[in-house]
Amino acid sequence: MTGNPVRFCGLQLEHRIINASGTFDPIAASRAFGNDVITSLPFSAFVSKTVTVEPRQGNPPPRLWELPSGMMNSIGLPNKGLVRWVEEDLPILSRMKIPLIANVMGFERDQFSTLVEALGGKAEISALELNVSCPNVETGTIIGSDPFECGQLVSAMRLLTDSPLIVKITPNASDPAAVAISAEAAGADAISLINTVRGLALDPVSRRPWLGGRTGGISGPAIRAASLAQVDAVCSQVKIPVIAMGGVSSGKDAADLIDCGATLVAVGTENFRDPMAAERIRTELESISLVP
Ligand code: SIN
Repeated sequence: MTGNPVRFCGLQLEHRIINASGTFDPIAASRAFGNDVITSLPFSAFVSKTVTVEPRQGNPPPRLWELPSGMMNSIGLPNKGLVRWVEEDLPILSRMKIPLIANVMGFERDQFSTLVEALGGKAEISALELNVSCPNVETGTIIGSDPFECGQLVSAMRLLTDSPLIVKITPNASDPAAVAISAEAAGADAISLINTVRGLALDPVSRRPWLGGRTGGISGPAIRAASLAQVDAVCSQVKIPVIAMGGVSSGKDAADLIDCGATLVAVGTENFRDPMAAERIRTELESISLVP
């Protein structure tokens, strides 16, 4: 059954449901609803919003577009940068009762090195997720689309830390499974997928691109079947554990991904509709018999 604890990268997690990076902000939530939020998150591990070396404003507005079955974002990785994240956010996030996975993104390999060296040794951080799959910034998907580039990055990061390295790959690639295989061969401890699927929306009046970043990343139920196909392909090709995500809004959706081989399932867009969705999804999942 699925409510049982699960091992993941040396961590003992209470259940299989975590969050997708950038879809739940416990610090903002605790400001709005009180400090108890930090210690009662509905996830078994928490993945941070992407941290970059330098502070970033993110993309110009508008940044969101609603779709019939999901949404599109062009957020552009806004964050306070490594130094302030460590000083200001990490002490708050370390009050969580669940492991913290820090999601990091570099625009070049040296920046990934800086992030991995700074965060990899921190006791408050249980694992690092390398974001090589953001479709909303220039160069965001270059490494994650190319098996060779991804392998080179992971090999270099592997030398810098003993922390578990999770590589978040992109669906906007011709062969995501080949990228996952390369990451595994280079020393990755886990793969996470899928990040958002690149899309475009036109302003109904001006007939020009609506989003400030021109294109955006589609998430939500619209991408669920694409996620399932890619998770299935990756899980059949790698031995390391897989965190699967993409349009999960029910226990059945989570069970589908687990039956395709995922170890953990991340809830993303559904958190925006219902911040406690992960609890419901977990409960629903517990009543479903999985393929043995
Ligand atoms: C963003 O901040 O643009 C979203 C993060 C991502 O797609 O990796």
